[in-house]
Amino acid sequence: MNFKIAVLAGDGIGPEISKQGVDVMSAVCAKFGHNVSYTEAICGADAIDKVGDPFPEETFQACMDADAVLFSAVGDPKFDNNPTAKVRPEQGLLAMRKKLGLYANIRPVETFDCLVHKSPLKEELVKGADFVCIRELTGGMYFGEKYQDDEKAYDTNYYTRPEIERILKVGFEYAMRRNKHLTVVDKANVLASSRLWRKIAQEMEGSYPEVKTDYMYVDNAAMRMIQDPRFFDVMVTENTFGDILTDEGSCITGSMGLLPSASTGDHTPVFEPIHGSWPQAKGLNIANPLAQILSVAMLFEYFECKAEGALIRKAVAASLDANVRTPEIQVSGGEKYGTKEVGAWIVDYISKS
Ligand code: IPM
Ligand code: MG
Repeated sequence: MNFKIAVLAGDGIGPEISKQGVDVMSAVCAKFGHNVSYTEAICGADAIDKVGDPFPEETFQACMDADAVLFSAVGDPKFDNNPTAKVRPEQGLLAMRKKLGLYANIRPVETFDCLVHKSPLKEELVKGADFVCIRELTGGMYFGEKYQDDEKAYDTNYYTRPEIERILKVGFEYAMRRNKHLTVVDKANVLASSRLWRKIAQEMEGSYPEVKTDYMYVDNAAMRMIQDPRFFDVMVTENTFGDILTDEGSCITGSMGLLPSASTGDHTPVFEPIHGSWPQAKGLNIANPLAQILSVAMLFEYFECKAEGALIRKAVAASLDANVRTPEIQVSGGEKYGTKEVGAWIVDYISKS
C-alpha cells in the first residue's frame, strides 16, 4: 500500500512521542513493503504561537490530503490558567474533529497482565478486562448552542436522529466483531436527548439479533466500570459521557500511557493516544510512547493490515515483558528507559522479526 500520513505532533510531550510513532510506522512499512510519506503540520498551542490559530487551514488541508492522521497531543498550561484567553489549544482538536467529520471515537480499554498491579483497583477485578468505548465525537454539548454572561450560562445537548443512528451503527457493528455484547450508556431517566438515543437503539436492536444489547444509566455505568470492568464488551455513548467514562477507563488499566484511540467518520481518520500533552514532562524523555505506537497499530488495522497491527502489538508486549519501560511503569529497582529508548527497542524488534 501507499500511505500518506499527516503528522500532527502538537504540544508538550507530543513531538517526542510522535517521533516514536513515525519511526515504528516506517519500520513496519519497510518490513511489509508499503510506501509511506509524511507531511508534518502544526496544531494546538504551537500553532497559536506561530499563526494565531490552533487548527490552521493549511493543517486542515494536510489532513484532507492524507490517508490518515497521526496525532499526538495539544494543550499548554499558559492557556489553562487564563480563563479570558480567546483561543485555546483544545479548540484546535475540536475543530479537527468537526471539520474532518470524525463522529466515531473508538477508545479501547485493554489491560496488560504485567501492569494490572499498577491499577488502583484490585488485581483480580481488572485482570482480563477488555472493552471498547465508542464515543460520539461531533455532537452533544460540545457543539450545541452555548451562552454565557455573568448571571447565567448554558450548553445545549443537541442530537439529531441521523447523528444518533450512525454512531449506534458503529457500536452494533463493533459488538458483532467482538463478543456481541453492547451496552448503550445514557441518562434516559432525566435527559430528553438520552430518551431519543434509547428509543433509536431499541429500534435498531432488531437488526442485530446476535448482539445482546443492554441499557445503562451513565452514573450506574461509572460505578460498574470500577466494580466489574469485565462486564463490558462494547459500550456506546454520547460525547460528554464518553469523555468522562474513557478517562475512568484509562486509569483502571494501570497506565494512561498505554491507550491508543481512533477517530473515524466522513474524512481522514485520526489516530492518537488518549492521554494529553503532559507539559511538565516536555523534553525530559520520560513520556511513555506506547499509546502513540499502539495508535499506529490501530491505523494499520483500520486499513485491514492485520499482520502489521499484530506485529506492533507483539513488539509492545515484548518490550513490557523485557522490562523496557518508561519510569511510571518500571518495576521497582528496574532500569528506567526513556521515550526514545523504548521506541528504538520496538523499532529494532520489528526490524528483526
Ligand atoms: C479528550 C479530551 C478532549 C475532550 C479535550 C482536550 C477537549 O479530554 O479527547 O477526551 O474533552 O474531548
Ligand atoms: Mg477527555
